[in-house]
Amino acid sequence: MGSKVKRELLKTPRGTRDLLESELSVVRKIQKTAQEFSSYYGFQEIQTPHFEHAELFGASLGESTDVVEKQTYTFRTRGGDALVLRPEGTVPAVRAYFEHGLGSWPQPVMLYYSGSFFRHESPQKGRFREFNQFGLEILGEELAVAEATIIRVCSLIFKELGIETSLELNTLGDKECRPTWKKELVAFYRKHFEKLCKDCKRRFKENPLRLLDCKEPSCQEFKAKAPQMLEYVCEECKAHFKEVLEFMDSLELPYRLNPQLVRGFDYYTRTVFEFVTTGKTEAEGETGGPASPSASQGGKRVELGGGGRYDYLAQVLAGKDLAAAGAALGIDRIAELVSSRPEEKDRAQLLKTERPQVFLIQLGMAAKRKILSLMEDFRKARIPLAQSLSKDSLRGQLRLASKLGVEFSLIMGQKEALEGTIIIRNMDSGMQETLPVAKALERLKLKFK
Ligand code: HAM
Repeated sequence: MGSKVKRELLKTPRGTRDLLESELSVVRKIQKTAQEFSSYYGFQEIQTPHFEHAELFGASLGESTDVVEKQTYTFRTRGGDALVLRPEGTVPAVRAYFEHGLGSWPQPVMLYYSGSFFRHESPQKGRFREFNQFGLEILGEELAVAEATIIRVCSLIFKELGIETSLELNTLGDKECRPTWKKELVAFYRKHFEKLCKDCKRRFKENPLRLLDCKEPSCQEFKAKAPQMLEYVCEECKAHFKEVLEFMDSLELPYRLNPQLVRGFDYYTRTVFEFVTTGKTEAEGETGGPASPSASQGGKRVELGGGGRYDYLAQVLAGKDLAAAGAALGIDRIAELVSSRPEEKDRAQLLKTERPQVFLIQLGMAAKRKILSLMEDFRKARIPLAQSLSKDSLRGQLRLASKLGVEFSLIMGQKEALEGTIIIRNMDSGMQETLPVAKALERLKLKFK
């Protein structure tokens, strides 16, 4: 008996693994890349505990979601407290926002985190019970620029790591329009109830939106014919989604609308998105199975990251209003793609986090969109920069710029956005000059060389 017990003890628990130096170096490289991009784009790091109060996740993720129903590791301490190993990082970030009064900071608050998360899933390739995520959250921003910034930073991270992904987008509406869609969905599925698979029969009763996650071949025809949210979306949600898509266009980020994308948690409203492997990346290095039920069973469509807007989460958690959006990247899955790449290309040196020297000011939507892509030129030119994409007034942004003590502000308004120019303002003397963007960039590059 002894030898059997011992052999078991010499293995990590199911769904967990040791990472040795060769794997760790890849993981660290991904984390470092993600951290550097995130801090350049204005995100600050947060670390939250690996365990939280057991009740924290129930209502906030949704009682009938797979994670809450069957995947959380809950335990009692010797003192009798009920705790849970964190299954994800968004709820803890929102908890921390209220615990530390981050509402009094200039909004939005932009946070990133990196670490282990725990879900009791059936382990398979690319799906673990302890896994690593890198997450980004923008708290206190109702405009589509929040989703756009999150998606932009994630896609830059993938690009820097040499991973080709495809971006899928959908809108889930809000509390005004989603119930109508849900009703239609239920009415549609009721007609076919007897033909649904066992899981879908359960989903039908507990969480009808999850019906769209089903991968059973026999349920596919229903999914394809099911009413789509886009047909029921209210005017406000439609306008918001349109803005998100316009950002994607101006950033030249290709996307695919996926009306069946519903994601695994109940806290999402309006925009949801996922970064999935393209056939090409998989051919270069096959990764394992899907993270959530939304990925395919055959291991073809691997979800490398995902997120969305979650404007009502703070209501559920703290009874407060807080518009927010975020995403998390699955580091373990990304690591498999990075490590299996045959040759390492020389990557452009990233910028170290330095004190910002320039503040980028935008006035109006056209400028906002331009600036999100302009920032990448600044990053490549290694110019430490700050911005506040959510602020709209010149005065507010100039105030922030002087608070940060930057030497220059760059101002882009509607006129400059159209003309491809930018105003460069010396913050000490108040002197201003309008220059073509490329020229302004050259000048600052020389200045901060
Ligand atoms: P999620 O889709 O559950 O979202 O997880 C994000 C990513 O983590 C997935 O795309 C996948 O790559 C990876 N992942 C999830 N589960 C596993 C697993 N068992 N093994 C390996 N990798 C896994 C969230 O967690 C949300 N908190 C994202 C978010 C942030 N939404 C808004 N803000």
